[in-house]
Amino acid sequence: MLKQRVSVRTPATAANLGPGFDCLGLALDIFNDVVVESALALSIEVSGEGVGAIPTGRDNLVYRGLEAVFSRVGQKPPGLQVTCHNGIPLARGLGSSGAAVAGGMVSANLLLGGPFSTDELLSMGAAIEGHPDNLAPALFGGCQVVVAEGESYLHATVPLSPALKVVLFIPDAHLSTAQARGVLPKRVPLKDAVYNVGRAAMLVASLANGELSLLKAATRDRLHQPYREMLFPALGPVISAALGAGALGSFLSGAGPTVLALCTENEAVIGGAMKRAADGQGVVGVSRVAHPALDGVVAGEVA
Ligand code: HSE
Repeated sequence: MLKQRVSVRTPATAANLGPGFDCLGLALDIFNDVVVESALALSIEVSGEGVGAIPTGRDNLVYRGLEAVFSRVGQKPPGLQVTCHNGIPLARGLGSSGAAVAGGMVSANLLLGGPFSTDELLSMGAAIEGHPDNLAPALFGGCQVVVAEGESYLHATVPLSPALKVVLFIPDAHLSTAQARGVLPKRVPLKDAVYNVGRAAMLVASLANGELSLLKAATRDRLHQPYREMLFPALGPVISAALGAGALGSFLSGAGPTVLALCTENEAVIGGAMKRAADGQGVVGVSRVAHPALDGVVAGEVA
């Protein structure tokens, strides 16, 4: 029998982490909450981030996640009231779409009594959302490496130093992932591929070993940021300002335009420097301190 009410909390995510294009992601302690209750018909209510922009019909991404899980057990979702309270800013490179799909899938899985493992949900969700580097950290938390293997996805957790903190500069302007992928080349020089492979490997090793002084070099990228800078020219100055103020490494969060800086101290100084650099480029936005979220989607009250 279906459960009557489930509630889940899903973290924001920063994909890529510089060189790990499409294969690395980090969950952050900024959250979307979803409550799903049985009802006579479908109704979707949104509050917080994205009100007015997020669809409230069957094309809603939380609902699409729910529907995919029901469909995998050969069912259509029953009448449901879906209430979304969103803390994750939309279209800023913070994984709001992945969080919505993950929240919907985990809710459906709980309503159905848990027929699927979280690994199965990752592969199911990637087919809807297309960005496993957001979905894996949203589902499993922490820092995740994710790769496609045939039809499914494999992921591995990267241990993180408890001292690691995050400073975000979140521009007010939105940037769609489709637009940010549209500027990427179809082919890249071998030397740029080698540059990134080495840095992605060094990034994982330095995070895992706590060799944080390597992060400055290990978070540099040549596969996507130089191209995306055409859409967001403030990227270079904001990264330089973060590093100049003492950040350990800094890069575009996902497809952007949010810029993320890693640090263990001086968060306020780094955030202030990032904001001033953005102001200097005519970019309006806010800086915000966050932390890695070590849990992925968490179920709240379940009745
Ligand atoms: N890896 C993806 C990209 C993340 O950078 O386009 C999209 O959220």
